[in-house]
Amino acid sequence: MVNNNLILRNCRMINGEMVDLAIENGLITAIAPNFPRLAVPELDIKGKLVSPPFVESHIHLDSALTAGEPRFNESGTLFEGIQIWGERKQTLSLDDVKIRALKTLQMLAAQGVLFVRTQGDVSEPSLTALQALLEVREEVKDWMKVQVVAFPQDGIYGGRENDLLLEKAVAMGADAVGGIPHYEMTRELGVRSVERIFELAQKYDKLIDIHCDEIDDEQSRFLEVVAAAAVQTGWGAKVTASHTTAFGSYNNAYAYKLMGLLSRSHINFIANPLINITLQGRTDTYPKRRGITRVKELWQQGLNVSLGQDCIQDPWYSLGTGNMLDVAFMAIHVCQMTGMAEIDACYDMVTVRGAKTLQVEAEYGLAVGKPASLIVLDAESRYDAIRRRPTVLYVISRGKLLAQTEPPVTKWQP
Ligand code: FE2
Repeated sequence: MVNNNLILRNCRMINGEMVDLAIENGLITAIAPNFPRLAVPELDIKGKLVSPPFVESHIHLDSALTAGEPRFNESGTLFEGIQIWGERKQTLSLDDVKIRALKTLQMLAAQGVLFVRTQGDVSEPSLTALQALLEVREEVKDWMKVQVVAFPQDGIYGGRENDLLLEKAVAMGADAVGGIPHYEMTRELGVRSVERIFELAQKYDKLIDIHCDEIDDEQSRFLEVVAAAAVQTGWGAKVTASHTTAFGSYNNAYAYKLMGLLSRSHINFIANPLINITLQGRTDTYPKRRGITRVKELWQQGLNVSLGQDCIQDPWYSLGTGNMLDVAFMAIHVCQMTGMAEIDACYDMVTVRGAKTLQVEAEYGLAVGKPASLIVLDAESRYDAIRRRPTVLYVISRGKLLAQTEPPVTKWQP
């Protein structure tokens, strides 16, 4: 494929239209039915679904693929996970993190993910995890867009140096400032941490992505602090509140009031249904809460929600394959979004809505003039893709065929 020129024939688009798609120098140059024959390579898509690539908007690549090291999380709680990670991260090296991060990115890309926002723990004085992820971001940039969040896992005020470490990490080149206000030692320190995050984001012109209210405690109310700061600073859509699981436990009167503020704020939300459904509700007997934010209601309100895996085989979650359709599938169940429009919305939450969260819309989507980054699914529609979670047949990144996978074939032996 010289100059990444290629014509894709018989593409079924998300809206059901059948078209051909021309790619020149890595960009989409035409989308039209029966595109004329040219002297460039062609690929017959055979009426399969052509989609913008999957977006993984929330993952921890620094801890990925460490499950069982030094031990498995037997209680299944967030807090035992943090404890185990605290032990494992004592032995982190640059190579250790880079090898696992790259392996995970390849696993994701093979399944159609071409945009990733990863959290990088910046609670250790060496900042090894962050340095490794910044290097990986650079090494994969020709085929994968990676954003790195400077994430103070132990709290910005959990140790005397943590605040300085966070600023150092941001200055080193992280794309976004992170935080974990509900894990700070007091409510006041939690509020202060949010103020500090916005201060740093404005000083260094960065995005914001905060682990916010990832707890079942209905009194954990940092989301309102984040939304208010987004309104006051005008940082709006550059801000993301990840998890916000406590929102699932707020009383409806407060949730109703909060929803008005959230609409004014224009911030993004990320839910991580695989993790939320397993980590939350652990202190409940019965009825046992689902422990996920109000995805359906936020979507109905017109707010931007995307979905992430959060963890792949790490101290918080020993499972995970890198398949974003698994994530959307779980959201449909846990959030009870089984209506046809709701199923389509959940697909959008791992594609176009993820791109909105990452603020990469200019380089994302199937339109003339945009980079030719797309995937071909062995499916007919978004609904079909989510129901069967089929093989991603082709992954094309900026006009280059990056990965190709054959679907499994069953041979009957009557
Ligand atoms: Fe997370």
